[in-house]
Amino acid sequence: MLAIVNSVVLLGLEGHQVRVEVDISNGLPLFAIVGLPDTSVKEARERVRAAIKNSGFEFPLRRITVNLAPADVKKEGPIYDLPIAVGVLAASGQLQGGHLPDNLFMVGELSLEGSLRPVPGALPMALALQESHPGSTLIVPAGNAQAAALATGIRVLAASSLSQVLEFLKGHEELPRVLPEQGLNFSEPKAAVDLADIKGQDQAKRALEIAAAGGHNILLIGPPGTGKTMLARSLAGLLPALTYEEALEITKIYSAAGLLPAGQGLIRERPFRSPHHTATLASMVGGGRIPRPGEVSLASNGILFLDEIVEFRREVLEALRQPLEERVVTVARAQAAVTYPANFLLVGSMNPCPCGYLGDAVRSCQCTQYQVAQYRKRLSGPLLDRIDLVVEVPRLEYRQVERVQPGETSKQVRERIERARGKQRERLAGEGLRCNAEMQGPQVRRYCLLSPPARKLLQSAYNRLALSLRAYDRVLKVARTIADLEGADEIKEQHLAEALQYRLVF
Ligand SMILES: Nc1ncnc2c1ncn2[C@@H]1O[C@H](COP(=O)(O)OP(=O)(O)OP(=O)(O)O)[C@@H](O)[C@H]1O
Ligand SMILES: [Mg+2]
Repeated sequence: MLAIVNSVVLLGLEGHQVRVEVDISNGLPLFAIVGLPDTSVKEARERVRAAIKNSGFEFPLRRITVNLAPADVKKEGPIYDLPIAVGVLAASGQLQGGHLPDNLFMVGELSLEGSLRPVPGALPMALALQESHPGSTLIVPAGNAQAAALATGIRVLAASSLSQVLEFLKGHEELPRVLPEQGLNFSEPKAAVDLADIKGQDQAKRALEIAAAGGHNILLIGPPGTGKTMLARSLAGLLPALTYEEALEITKIYSAAGLLPAGQGLIRERPFRSPHHTATLASMVGGGRIPRPGEVSLASNGILFLDEIVEFRREVLEALRQPLEERVVTVARAQAAVTYPANFLLVGSMNPCPCGYLGDAVRSCQCTQYQVAQYRKRLSGPLLDRIDLVVEVPRLEYRQVERVQPGETSKQVRERIERARGKQRERLAGEGLRCNAEMQGPQVRRYCLLSPPARKLLQSAYNRLALSLRAYDRVLKVARTIADLEGADEIKEQHLAEALQYRLVF
């Protein structure tokens, strides 16, 4: 007898229908799974066999063939345990009176005792079904239900065991339908550090404000212990509040990566990722045997903080160039390349030289010129070109340390940032862009109009600072953001002058 159970496969963040076909015929006992299974699908055989027995059903000692169609799509992970087990039970006649409608889909990993474990990717799968099969039903493990239920165009049912799913299919018991949480309000962005807690460093704080307002990448350079890491952490509290679409995209990526805690619905905060400098290429850009999004994608719509950026492996830093430019990352695979979003704001921090004290007014630097040059060379020109703001974080003077009067809080600064973002959204809506940093050449020409004195200043700076054309565009974008913070339509000389100041000669 033949049974067909519908399921879903993920390629990157895209879901496609999978048909789990189970045929049982007479012959020597055999349990074969075909259709390009990887090792974990083979392991599924053992789990399915045990789960069926331990749920009180009979595992048929006949010739069982399972085909996961289409065969040309690579399927990974244990997510087909549930559909395979249901197919085996249906094909062996143990689903008396039950039926498997065409618009019913299911995913889930089984434990040996027959309970269902959460699987990665439930949300992107549910969103894909909402697109391709609106109104259909998706059975997911209970731990995935809150996330999957964000796809409101389908019916999401939560199950906790194989026997519960069987009771449902027989019509004996209902499975709880999960609805997304209501009244989604995005609380104030939170950060580990408030700007007001950081003493001095006014220039760096101003640069962070500009970075947050226009979505610009930023590099902080300074001696040890001056607050670089603190400043970077405070940036999370300056970014504008999340929109629903952004939150959904973040949740989708974390779901695909298997990083959503069980029971978690929508993620409400912008990600702040700070991978260690020993990070591998695969963990940074994504990939691996079972492809997963990397740090650049997990930081999408948020911040990627590379502390001690020059300590990262060169190949890892160079691999950031493409996502920094295109805001997506393509991970090559044996069969197909998958694309993940990688729209992050890069924050780097580094010391000015190996000993850390170059340029310090009091402590003298121990490094040779050659050592300094080698150290800085680890940040390649093309990568530096993609960083809009380079800012010094010097050691504070004692009077700044003593100063009791606190500076502005993150909340106060964020009000200006939200206003500047509003101006950008209005201006760039027709282009499908969200902030100044996302502008490409043609838009820079169109929207970064300079006053005549500003134009003159740019001309002389272009030659003096030996700007590349990319750097030239980036200066204009930063100047645009500075003007937006001030509410000015035209870029004036002082806006451009400030923007040029953040291109610290390196
Ligand atoms: N400007 C500052 N205002 C308040 N506290 C500060 C400031 N700078 C440093 N500190 C204190 O010093 C500690 C170290 O700061 P932080 O880790 O940010 O330095 P860093 O510049 O990243 O140093 P390193 O180069 O060694 O990584 C902080 O936890 C904080 O307590
Ligand atoms: Mg630090």
